[in-house]
Amino acid sequence: MVAPESRHITIAPSLLAADFGRLKEEVAAIEAAGADWLHLDIMDGHFVPNISFGPNILAALRQHTKLPFDVHLMIAPVDRYLDAFIEAGADHISLHPEAGPHLHRSLQHIRAAGKKAGVVLNPATSPESVAWALDLIDIILVMSVNPGFGGQSFLRSQLPKIAHLRRMIDAADHPIALAVDGGVTTATAPAAIAAGADTLIAGTSVFRAPDYARAIAALRGGS
Ligand code: DX5
Ligand code: ZN
Repeated sequence: MVAPESRHITIAPSLLAADFGRLKEEVAAIEAAGADWLHLDIMDGHFVPNISFGPNILAALRQHTKLPFDVHLMIAPVDRYLDAFIEAGADHISLHPEAGPHLHRSLQHIRAAGKKAGVVLNPATSPESVAWALDLIDIILVMSVNPGFGGQSFLRSQLPKIAHLRRMIDAADHPIALAVDGGVTTATAPAAIAAGADTLIAGTSVFRAPDYARAIAALRGGS
C-alpha cells in the first residue's frame, strides 16, 4: 500500500459548477490551471432530481481541450445512452449500479469500446456491490453527497467506505482510481485522502474560486 502522503492526487473539476454561458473558455481555463480530468455530470431529472446536459455538449467541447472526459452518468435506464457518450468523446464512463439491470454487462460494453469503466456508489450503496466486477473496473467513485446537485455538504459517514475500498483496490491485480465526489473542499479533502482517495472531484470549490490554479493546488495539498 502506498502511503497517502506520497500518492499522486488526481484533480477532476466538475463542469456542473462552471459558467454555462462560457463553457469553451471555462474548459480552457481549467486545463491551463492544472486540472487532470474534466468531470462531466449527466443528470436526467429521473434518476436524480435535476437535469444538466447531454452528449451534444461533450461533442462541442471535445475539440477545445485535451483533458480526459470523465463522464458521470446519473441517468436510468443507462445502457441505451452508453454509445452516445462514447461517440461524443468520453474517455471514462462511470455509472451507478442502480441505473441498469446488469452492471457487469454495462462495464463490459464500456471496456469493449476501449474506454475506462467506472462504478459510482451512492452514500447508502455498499462497497461490496463492486466486489465481483473489479476486473472490469478502472475507477470507483464514492459519492460524498446524494447525487443531483453541486454545492452540498460532504458526508463524513463515507470516510470508512473509502478506507474499505482502498483495501479492496490494494488487493486487486490492476490499478483502480478511487475517487470522491461531492462537497470536496480544502476542509474536507485531507480526510478523504487520508482514508485512501487518490482522485478528487470538485465543482464549487474550483469553478467558483477566484483563481482556478490556486484552488486546484490547494486541493492537492500544495498550499
Ligand atoms: C453531484 C455531482 C458532483 C457535483 C460536485 O451529483 O456528481 O460531481 O458536481 O459538486 P460540488 O463539488 O459542488 O459538491
Ligand atoms: Zn459527479
